[in-house]
Amino acid sequence: MPMLRGREILLGVTGGIAAYKSVLLCRDLTRRGANVHVVMTKNAMNFVTPLTFQTISGNPVTHELFQLFSGSEIGHVSLADRAHALVVAPATANILGKVANGLADDFLSTMIMATRVPVLFAPAMNVVMWDSPAVQRNLAVLRDAGHHFVGPAAGELACGVEGRGKMADPGQIVEALEMVLTPNDLAGERVLITAGPTIEPIDPVRFVSNHSSGKMGYALARAARRRGAEVRLVSGPTALADPVGVAVTRVETAAEMRDAVLRDAPWSTVIVKAAAVCDWRPSETAAAKIKKRGGAPPALDLEPNPDILEELGRTKRPDQILVGFAAETGDLEVNAKAKLAAKRLDAIVANDVTAPGSGFHADTNAVRMFTADGREVGVPLMDKDRVADRVLGLVAKLRKGSQRQVAGKTPKGGAFWTEG
Ligand code: PMT
Repeated sequence: MPMLRGREILLGVTGGIAAYKSVLLCRDLTRRGANVHVVMTKNAMNFVTPLTFQTISGNPVTHELFQLFSGSEIGHVSLADRAHALVVAPATANILGKVANGLADDFLSTMIMATRVPVLFAPAMNVVMWDSPAVQRNLAVLRDAGHHFVGPAAGELACGVEGRGKMADPGQIVEALEMVLTPNDLAGERVLITAGPTIEPIDPVRFVSNHSSGKMGYALARAARRRGAEVRLVSGPTALADPVGVAVTRVETAAEMRDAVLRDAPWSTVIVKAAAVCDWRPSETAAAKIKKRGGAPPALDLEPNPDILEELGRTKRPDQILVGFAAETGDLEVNAKAKLAAKRLDAIVANDVTAPGSGFHADTNAVRMFTADGREVGVPLMDKDRVADRVLGLVAKLRKGSQRQVAGKTPKGGAFWTEG
């Protein structure tokens, strides 16, 4: 993930069994290009050795309060100054209590006190400890102080009990970290995203659909969340996990997607429709499986589905930003611009779904974005998370533009934005 490339990340590891998962977190961060410095507490070293983290991060592991860095730098201050963010995973009740109460008796707690960078805690502990008044009070103090949290999740805990207290998965911690590091230029926006295909049943076992995996729409939902927006995602059937911090409504048919989208549209200030909605559906759905019975196959009569985006365009509020996608197999610009106008959109993201690495299912995409005021932004082939960031960068610019227009300065058309 490019967002972490070149970032200096401090990873604090405290003494809980989930420390073994921090090894995977460290590997994940390093693979994404971050330079990870691990700081372990004495108790953490009972679960995992410093050598493991040193091997994976490629950096020496710190665990002594009076360990010095190059020259006369003071260890905890030097590390705390250089970093972009500090992640504490697992964060035990003990470290939360120490930080909440201003105690600094080892390297990690001293460094947390000495840093001005964002701190993300991934708590992990027994459910009774998590629910205890002391931990809950400390959490409230830490939240008030501006610290960030991811998890804990519910599930079977190491002590054999079911409940909340499991450390968030490394992938979720990475996602939360990216959110912490991203500029909040969509803070205050309420963003509705659609993703995935719709499926239109022929009978209880067969359906008409398309190749959408949902990857593009889910990347948009994650990116909008990272940029500080409140996000709702209406998703057709996909194999993807719900993005962290996003309210997800799962639907199957275009009619169900329409209902869910129209329900959330009044709430939204931005709507981005990446879903591949089936244009047609079988006119009738058989109640039982259609039998083969020999002879000619049954004819399939189709009828049009509602065009959700067109309906949103017709009923759009002036403060709403409406962005559509166009999946094309030819005449990209002409077709996309026709949809932009017909559906009264603020912008359209056009992808040639026949181009290698683009469109359906791929992890990458290449798009051209056209705005209603005549601008074009080209986005070369890159992973869908980055494409999503470009799309939302455009949304942020459109919002700024509409605010300038309100102030009486109309932005000139025809410009070419190179960065989203
Ligand atoms: O999901 P992935 O595998 O990651 O693939 C991504 C993608 C190719 C699905 C995505 O990038 C994309 O192009 N999404 C739009 C697909 C599509 O339906 O395009 P369209 O040109 O047919 O529709 C134009 C717009 O109208 C789209 O925003 C669509 O959501 C909307 N629409 C279409 C038909 C309909 N009945 N209702 C709609 O709202």
